[in-house]
Amino acid sequence: MGILTGGGDCPGLNAVIRAVVIAGHVRYGYETVGYLDGWRGVLERRSRPLDPVESAGLLTLGGTVLGTSRTNPFAVDRGPERVIEHLAQAGVEAVVAIGGDDTLGVANRLGPLGVAVVGVPKTIDNDLSGTEVTFGFQTAVQTATEAIDRLGTTAESHHRVIVCEVMGRNAGWIATEAGIAGGAAEILVPEVPFDLDTVCAKLRARHERGQFFSVLVVAEGALPADPALADSATSARSGAARDAFGHARLGGIGDWLAGQVEERTGYEARSTTLGHIQRGGTPTAFDRVLATRFGVGAVEAVHDGDFGKMVALRAGDIVRVPLAEAVGNPKTVDPGLLEVAAPFLG
Ligand code: F6P
Repeated sequence: MGILTGGGDCPGLNAVIRAVVIAGHVRYGYETVGYLDGWRGVLERRSRPLDPVESAGLLTLGGTVLGTSRTNPFAVDRGPERVIEHLAQAGVEAVVAIGGDDTLGVANRLGPLGVAVVGVPKTIDNDLSGTEVTFGFQTAVQTATEAIDRLGTTAESHHRVIVCEVMGRNAGWIATEAGIAGGAAEILVPEVPFDLDTVCAKLRARHERGQFFSVLVVAEGALPADPALADSATSARSGAARDAFGHARLGGIGDWLAGQVEERTGYEARSTTLGHIQRGGTPTAFDRVLATRFGVGAVEAVHDGDFGKMVALRAGDIVRVPLAEAVGNPKTVDPGLLEVAAPFLG
């Protein structure tokens, strides 16, 4: 087997690698090579053997020992042909691709070209369809919740509004779950364009009730509903840089929002962007178990020759879904979860 990790890193990547290498070896005597830096390693023929004994220590390690990149073989000269040629020459009979929408989107396009591939769903954003949850998400929520708790105590001391910006490009899963867990005064997500006047009115109402501090949680992809304000926020939050899949670099809505809130309410406001802190470090116990279950599930899919599939969590079980069902269609926050959050906001 070949294994690779692509896209933004995520707590639990190494736990999946460990599970694939060890379960593949113990159950079926498979040998596994790890491609370096995602699909780029396959294109450039850079890999390393993965030893079951040495892999044992990977369970708790953050990041990915294989490295990652946002390389898109379909965007480079003869990319797909080079991938196919290399895998055949190297004797790699199956590829386990661990990634989000982009990495698994590539896997989905390579399948019909003859690449035997199984996907494992990864993203802290939890916005991949086909699975109820991706590994890494729960760790990111835990990290963001701890940050919200800490921001709350300093906000209270100084009678401030603090905006906490979390990751979430297309979907506000981290903002919603960490906002609920941290008792945030407001949760702003990409799925629901927000009204700045309403946000400020709710802050004033809190002050009138004697609640002189607030933590607002905003996902990096959230925007105001008003078109002029949305333009202003967009230019504040998006960098010019784009990756191989065409995504703009986000970040900055929190600073923009804190500025607007301070100007409109007169309350002192600050912002903190959690950024890549949410992606680093050791996975929680939940994510270690989920990563292990996904890894073992991927080995079983390889053994069954059930390619073009992604392992997924549904109703507590590890199942397989067609890659085509998982990619190209971000899983947005369940409106029911936003309704659960609503009574506690403002
Ligand atoms: O993995 C998805 C994600 O976490 C997005 O929420 C975020 O916009 C992006 O990664 C940032 O990635 P990077 O800065 O590493 O390119």
